Formats: sequence, structure tokens, C-alpha cells
Amino acid sequence: MMKTEIKKEEGIALAASLIVSGEVVAFPTETVYGLGADAFNSEAVKKIFIAKGRPQDNPLIVHICDISELTLVAREVPDEAYMLFAEFSPGPLTLVLKKNPNIPYEVSAGLDTVGVRIPDNKIARELIRLSSPIAAPSANLSTRVSATTAEYVYDDFKGKIPLILDGGATRVGIESTVLNLVGTPAILRPGAITKEMLSNFVKIDDQIKDDINAPRSPGTKYKHYAPIVDTVMAMDTDRAKIEYIKKENNGEYPVIIGTDKSLEGLNIFRTMSLGKSREEVENRIYSYFRFAEKTYKSIIIIYDACLMDEAVMNRLNKSTGGKRV
Ligand code: TXA
Ligand code: MG
Repeated sequence: MMKTEIKKEEGIALAASLIVSGEVVAFPTETVYGLGADAFNSEAVKKIFIAKGRPQDNPLIVHICDISELTLVAREVPDEAYMLFAEFSPGPLTLVLKKNPNIPYEVSAGLDTVGVRIPDNKIARELIRLSSPIAAPSANLSTRVSATTAEYVYDDFKGKIPLILDGGATRVGIESTVLNLVGTPAILRPGAITKEMLSNFVKIDDQIKDDINAPRSPGTKYKHYAPIVDTVMAMDTDRAKIEYIKKENNGEYPVIIGTDKSLEGLNIFRTMSLGKSREEVENRIYSYFRFAEKTYKSIIIIYDACLMDEAVMNRLNKSTGGKRV
């Protein structure tokens, strides 16, 4: 089995040389950790799919270090793309553009488009600058919860990749917003950059939704973000209590995850607080799932209409498989 090293910033040069020689390396971004390979090297990119167990038809995002690299990976870039990158990058926004022929179809999963983003993380951008544009999905085994720390990446990929760059806990905590700019602009995956924020720059078609039968973004049709223990959503605090007691009596050793407000009055239960702002909820949700699935036997998450936005609900509906009480 391969030895997997974890290195902080001092490992960037080694990571860059591994990328250049066709290896796969995990690295931090501001959203979640990525599992990266040279975006121009199809053999290297294939290793990502193998390591993750990722379906072949789910394309990867190409990460660039600044706007000057955009035309290396995309072609016929519209003005909106430059405007949006000027406003929101580096940051958690992925734009789907026409693919430059230099990007192999392994990256785009056979599509003529490519997702591109400029991560707001110094280690990530320095790694790209020293190596190449990097194709990277989130650094988790397929279907599992995305990793927000180097340790969580290690849990999934020890023995499978040579190096994990450790940049500490990620700032945003959920994956980037994916905006399609080929054809009518549409959000393919909601994220911290909201439709309202984007609408100042581009007119977005609301009708195009995550349709499980005709996915515009291949990734949306797959099971995703699921903790390895039973996970349900309780629609309010009282239902969470009832569910907890039922599970406790069944020996299912539950934990309740909720915002500060939803956890009021639950002092005698095992709980984990998502805090009191939308940013805190986004930031903690995956890391709490990762912690909870190692520690408890089941998870009850309490719905909070004020603090759980479209981006978080998109993930939670998948994490729970739509199970509600
Ligand atoms: O924040 C993020 O975006 C993280 C970090 C590592 O950058 N990456 C990430 O990658 O979440 P991944 O592979 O887990 O999700 C990429 C999503 C998938 O839903 C995929 O289908 C979609 O982006 N996507 C990528 N390229 C696409 C394309 N050309 N057309 C449509 N959807 C695309
Ligand atoms: Mg992912």
C-alpha cells in the first residue's frame, strides 16, 4: 500500500512535482478539499476517478490560479464570465464554459464544456501556479460527505494517494456554486454565492432546476453527501425529541444536530450546534456529519427555515435521502 503523507505549506513544492509527474494530490480550497491532477493529463485524471470510485460520466472542475489562465482551459469566453470572475473570484464560484480542446474529455466526462474556478486559498493557487491548471472533484469517496479538513481526507484516501496538503479547516465548508454560461445562464448547484448575488451581473433562468431525470449537471443525479449512519431530518424541535427517544430506546445512539435556536430546551440530549448564522451553518454542516458518523450511530438534523438556505437544503435533502419526520 502507498504511504500517504500529510504536509502543511512546506509541502507545496513536492505536491507540484507530483502533479507534474502525473500523480494525484489532495489540497485545501476555501470550500472543501479537492483531489487534484494535471488537467491536461488524461492518464493522471483517470486516477482521480479510480481513487474516488466516481462514475465516469460526472465531469471535474478545473481550478486555475488567476484569470490569465482562463483561455488555456476554456474557449469563446463570454463577457459575463470575465465580469463574474472579476466580482466573485478568487472565490466559491464555478462557471461552466465552452471547453478548450486542450482539456481532455476525461475531465469533462465527454462534454464539450468545462467547469472552471479560481479557489480563494493561497496553498491551492500556489500549487496551481507551480504546476498546472488542476482538475479536481471534492476529496471524498464517491457518495460520501465532502471533506473539510486534511484528517477527513486521510480517512477516505489513506494508502491511495501519496500526499495531502493540510491547510486547516476550510472557510466556506460546502462546495462552490456552479453556474452554466453555455446557453441560458442557470445555476446547476447552489452554493455560498447566491442567485441574488449573481443576478446583478447575469439574468438567470429559474425554471432550470435540479431535475433528477434530465440533469444539466451530471453530478446532480447521483447519491451524494451521505453520512454512513442513518440520517433523518426532523421538521421541528418536538419531532426531533420524539425521534431521539425512539432511536435511543432502539439502541441507535442518536445525536441531534441543529441551530442554536432549534436546540433550545434539548440540554439533556446529545446535540451539536450549527450556530446562529447562515455562514456558520454552511461552515459546520459537513464537518459535523463527518464527526457524527464516527461518534454516533444515527443523526437527527432539525430543519431551520431561517438559517438553512437553498445551498444547505440542497445538501441536506441528499444526505437524508429525503427522509423526514
Ligand atoms: O467547491 C468545489 O466546487 C469543490 C472544490 C474542490 O473546488 N469541488 C467540487 O467538485 O465540488 P465535485 O466534482 O465534487 O463537483 C463538481 C460538480 C458536479 O456536480 C459536476 O457534475 C459539475 O460540478 N460539473 C463539472 N463540470 C461540469 C460541466 N462541464 N457541465 C456541467 N456540470 C459540471
Ligand atoms: Mg463532490
